[in-house]
Amino acid sequence: MTCIGIIGGSGLYDLPGLTDGHWETVETPFGTPSDQIFRARLGDTDLAFLPRHGRGHGVNPSEINYRANIDALKRLGVTDILSMSACGSLAEDLPPGSFVAVDQFIDRTHARARSFFSHGMVAHVSMAEPTCARLRAAVVAAGGETGTPVRDGGTYVTIEGPQFSTKAESHLYRQWGAQVIGMTNMPEARLAREAEICYQTVAMVTDYDCWHEEEEAVEVSAVIRVLKDNADRARALVAHAAPRIAAARAATCPHGCDRVLDTAIITPPE
Ligand code: ADE
Repeated sequence: MTCIGIIGGSGLYDLPGLTDGHWETVETPFGTPSDQIFRARLGDTDLAFLPRHGRGHGVNPSEINYRANIDALKRLGVTDILSMSACGSLAEDLPPGSFVAVDQFIDRTHARARSFFSHGMVAHVSMAEPTCARLRAAVVAAGGETGTPVRDGGTYVTIEGPQFSTKAESHLYRQWGAQVIGMTNMPEARLAREAEICYQTVAMVTDYDCWHEEEEAVEVSAVIRVLKDNADRARALVAHAAPRIAAARAATCPHGCDRVLDTAIITPPE
C-alpha cells in the first residue's frame, strides 16, 4: 500500500481535492519531528505532509531532527518521500523558478546525526543512487502535465548553513559539477535510504546563489519572493505526481530502495 510522504514548506498541504485531512502528533525514539504530520487522502492515495522547518519556519537547517522526521514518516507507513526543497542555482540555465528532479548529492554538512545505526549495530547502505528513478520519472511526467518543466537529473550540494556560501565556495561547487545548492537534503536522503523509503528531491530554484556576476548575491527577501510562486507550482506538481507514484508502485521498488538492509547489516544476529 502506497503512502507518500511530502517533506517541504508549510502550505504544501493546501492541495485541492484532499479529503480526511487531520494533524497527527508522532513521537519517535529519536525525539520530536519538526512538527505534527498532516495526513490526508488524494483519491485513493494516502499522503503525509511534514513541514520541514515547522509551521512558522522556526527550525533552522542544522537544528532539524532529521532522524525523528524520517522515523515518524516510517511509523505512519510512508513508502515514498517527495522532498520539496527550495535551493539556489549553480547553473546559468537554471534561473529562479526552475525545478530539478535531483539524482545526486554532495554532502558538505558536518553537524547532524546521519544514521539510525549506532550502539552496537553496524550497517552500510549504498548511496550510489541516492534518489529513486521511479519517483523521478513520476515527477518529471507530472511537470509535463502541469506546465512546470522539471529537469530530469542534477546534483544538489548540501551545505551546513545557516549562512549562505562565500563566492569562493559557490565557484568551487560549480567546478565540482553541482547544479543546485541547499541546506537540508542531507542527511535526509541518507536516513530515508536506511529506513528503506524511496526518496526523490524536487529542487525549486529561488536564486543564483552568489557566483553570478550579473545577478545580486542571494538574500532572504529575494528567496521568499520566488518561494511563493514556486509553492503554487509545487502544489500542482504534487497533486499530479502522487497518483502517478501510486499507480506505478509494484509490490516492491524495482530499484531496491525498500530492501537495502537485506545486504547492509554487518553486525551478526544474536
Ligand atoms: N536555499 C535557497 N537558496 C539557497 C542558496 N543559495 N544556498 C543554500 N540554500 C539555499
